[in-house]
Amino acid sequence: MTLVIRDPRELFAYTERARHGGARIGFVPTMGALHDGHLALVDEATRRGATQRIVSIFVNPLQFGPSEDFSRYPRTFDDDLARCRARDVDVVYAPTPETVYPPGFQTHVAVERVTARWEGAFRPDHFRGVTTVVTKLLLAVGPCVAVFGRKDYQQWRTLDQLVHDLGLPVDIVGMATVREPDGLALSSRNRYLDAERRVRALAIANGLRAAHDAYAAGERSPRVLSGLVQSAVRAEFDRVDYIEAVDPQTLEPLSEPQDDLLILVAAHLGNTRLIDNLRLGHDARP
Ligand code: PAJ
Repeated sequence: MTLVIRDPRELFAYTERARHGGARIGFVPTMGALHDGHLALVDEATRRGATQRIVSIFVNPLQFGPSEDFSRYPRTFDDDLARCRARDVDVVYAPTPETVYPPGFQTHVAVERVTARWEGAFRPDHFRGVTTVVTKLLLAVGPCVAVFGRKDYQQWRTLDQLVHDLGLPVDIVGMATVREPDGLALSSRNRYLDAERRVRALAIANGLRAAHDAYAAGERSPRVLSGLVQSAVRAEFDRVDYIEAVDPQTLEPLSEPQDDLLILVAAHLGNTRLIDNLRLGHDARP
């Protein structure tokens, strides 16, 4: 049985009861348009000992820029609910924008350094929207464990920093990226791609694979490794926002060779913006 709750007070009453009954709450925040990547996060919550699984579905207006895809972001609630039911999710929490942001709302949560570059630079206010809504959701749900995808690596690092800095009593888990058999990272935005662009989109996975293979063969130069991804992606994508080898903790760009490198990618195909990443020496070959 999957319960749909829209009212935060009702959610609070439910989670209070669950906690008193000894439940360990696992939480997966999403914006819906659920795919197997989201559902892998639910499974991971179970693996981490969650006995109650709560998925939130909320397309958060605060994290979209004025020229971004908020209004056309896919909304597929019935299908999402069916997927949650099939995965034994206990509660789908789907608040309305008015309850999350009541009239006169003026409180934000912002994480500083780790949000400064990359997505933070190309999407001003995006992370402030993410950290504000996730703080509200964590307070509403009160989970023991919350699972996020490393597909959105900078978001995961930011939320881990947020929970650490605020001392929130929740374990943040970063789950490996789930990919299509051909390597494309699953994303709700993939459904914007027509057949031709779906093929061109593979350039990211192909580029990351080339970097993975070069790393396995001993290459450690950030410039050479990111250059392999750049040439693959630039050949197929219409515009590149960034392709960089960075430090996986600070997300600062690297100039010297090192063993622990993260390659971050953001690029556009028509109106669709895709992001991906690979942590060399840690992640599986895309
Ligand atoms: P959304 O894009 O719906 O993603 C929800 C969660 O699923 C995020 O933690 C994201 O990293 C993870 N995810 C997406 N694709 C994945 C994949 N292919 N493999 C593994 N995990 C994947 O990210 C958001 O929503 C929002 O910013 C949110 C955190 C819910 C705040 O509004």
